[in-house]
Amino acid sequence: MSTKTSDAVSYKELGLSNSRELFKKAIDGKYAIPGYNFNNMEQLQAIIIGCAKSNSPVILQVSKGARKYANSTLLRYMAMGAVQMALKDYGSNIPIVLHLDHGDSFETCKSCIDYGFSSVMIDGSALSFEDNIAVTKKVVEYAHPRDVSVEGELGVLAGIEDEVSHEKSSYTNPDDVEEFVKRTGVDSLAISIGTSHGAFKFKVKPGEKPPPLRFDILEEIERRIPGFPIVLHGSSSVIPKYVDMINEYGGKLEGTCGVPEDQLRKATKSAVCKINIDSDGRLAVTAMIRKVLAEQPGQFDPRKYLGPAREELIKMIIHKNEEVLGSAGKA
Ligand code: G3H
Ligand code: 13P
Ligand code: ZN
Repeated sequence: MSTKTSDAVSYKELGLSNSRELFKKAIDGKYAIPGYNFNNMEQLQAIIIGCAKSNSPVILQVSKGARKYANSTLLRYMAMGAVQMALKDYGSNIPIVLHLDHGDSFETCKSCIDYGFSSVMIDGSALSFEDNIAVTKKVVEYAHPRDVSVEGELGVLAGIEDEVSHEKSSYTNPDDVEEFVKRTGVDSLAISIGTSHGAFKFKVKPGEKPPPLRFDILEEIERRIPGFPIVLHGSSSVIPKYVDMINEYGGKLEGTCGVPEDQLRKATKSAVCKINIDSDGRLAVTAMIRKVLAEQPGQFDPRKYLGPAREELIKMIIHKNEEVLGSAGKA
């Protein structure tokens, strides 16, 4: 085995796919590809097993913070291992994309591409329109000759985006999208239509429904850039079952609220072809770890609580693919 560590590697050598073809098929087939975030081995296993079992294409998402946590060299081999595991142990050759979530600079995007990512997001949404265009275009110019896909963002989501917290959201302005897409050359566009990051998306009174997403803005965007791949961030439903489990077993989560599943199902019928989910996975894992440790206070073998947490996450992923995103059976 080679001991070289410094050379750049193409995602193709790792067995990964970019997202271009996947998005085309998803728009035509009226479903969305899941973008699931991971930080550790159990989450990665659960995402791959859940998607292999439901025969769904998958976008493995890594934030800048997750990359630092898991180590970028290790990540490269984890992604390669994930492809091999799907093939060898599950007889599945589902397309697997390794994607940088909320890339904050050209340098972060370049580093991920050099480390084998097949897709990167450059999030210039907090910049001026011109600065967002400039940095996004620079990333596209580095990514496209390497056949790596690029996601840009217009509009600001409320909540926390990779250590940057925005108190106020601003919806994407449909007047901006055509020019942004043309001048940058991006492959997909993340938009803001009312979703937000984290477990506290809407302030609603008990029994009240959260406000519907702004499908009128989405329709106007689709009219301006017909057939162009659209991405929804902040799309966890903040599954009440897991919030209740966390609270039952010693946690304290108050005032949580997510995007209802019917809103997401409706979005998949449009040009929305990628839906990002991180918080729901975190909740499922935490709920199960809390339950096991509360019921077995003498337990100290991590496999005995991380294993059940992984099983719960597999169930959640299969549910999302089959019942919400419609990606099951589309690999
Ligand atoms: O959109 C943000 C993702 O949920 C990643 O979060 O930066 O805490 O890893 P993180
Ligand atoms: P959630 O916090 O709703 O899971 O959103 C995750 C996300 O958008 C990752 O980019
Ligand atoms: Zn996001």
